[in-house]
Amino acid sequence: MSSKPVRIAQISDLHIKPPGSLAYGRVDTALALERCVAAVNEFNPAPDFVVISGDLADTPTAGEYHYLVRLLAPLKLPFAGIPGNHDSRELMRAAFPSPYAFPSGPLNQKIEVGGLDLLLLDSSVHRKPHGALDGLTLQWLDATLASSPERPALLFLHHPPFKAGIWHMDRQNLLNADELASIVRRHPRVQLIAAGHVHRATLTMFAGVPTTICPAPNHAVDLDLAELREPSFKVEPPAFHLHTWFPGEGFGTVVTHQVPIGNFDGPHPFFGPDGKLL
Ligand SMILES: [Fe+2]
Repeated sequence: MSSKPVRIAQISDLHIKPPGSLAYGRVDTALALERCVAAVNEFNPAPDFVVISGDLADTPTAGEYHYLVRLLAPLKLPFAGIPGNHDSRELMRAAFPSPYAFPSGPLNQKIEVGGLDLLLLDSSVHRKPHGALDGLTLQWLDATLASSPERPALLFLHHPPFKAGIWHMDRQNLLNADELASIVRRHPRVQLIAAGHVHRATLTMFAGVPTTICPAPNHAVDLDLAELREPSFKVEPPAFHLHTWFPGEGFGTVVTHQVPIGNFDGPHPFFGPDGKLL
């Protein structure tokens, strides 16, 4: 087992439109991605890998993926993406040729980064907003988790397998979450399940495993827990997630930090040269 920590940056829900168009007539998702890529590039220590957890394009069209490839070109780190409900498997496969688990169909991938396995699961359902893991993907997940039971694993998928309390998102989450749960419970090496789709940092336990939703670099789904409004978004502070795996007893420890994107005042020292608090 490798003794080095592994750092995975997760960026999510990029919603890239054709050049010059704004998402919902209001959000410059390309500019948001440029700032996000710069923030990931500048992060020290450099992440070992970047996972893009779905909704890479918006409509989707081949032109959007071409633009996305251009926008991601400055990213200095290796990366892989999984489709969300706004993506097309075929267009994504063409834009990002990766060693996917299957030559067609779901874009699942297993990526080994040091002592850690990343399992990227395609939860997209053609032309539907909700998610589901098809039989092939569930079988692949179970077999892949069984193939190296000693290595800690992080699962990534676009659709959260839980209800976050936002009514219009909860009806388009992962519909067959129970099937995912029964596989996860069989494999104690799963240390984290990381989703996207809701554009806001969220945490729960699912099948005994910490399960997160990643914030977006652009806009957030309105935190309308009182069910007051029609589906709405808000332009809130952009961010990405940094998941660090620290080796240790058993499967080690995974710590998730939310990293805000932007320039902020600081860092300033707490203590003066005399060692006293300033
Ligand atoms: Fe989505």
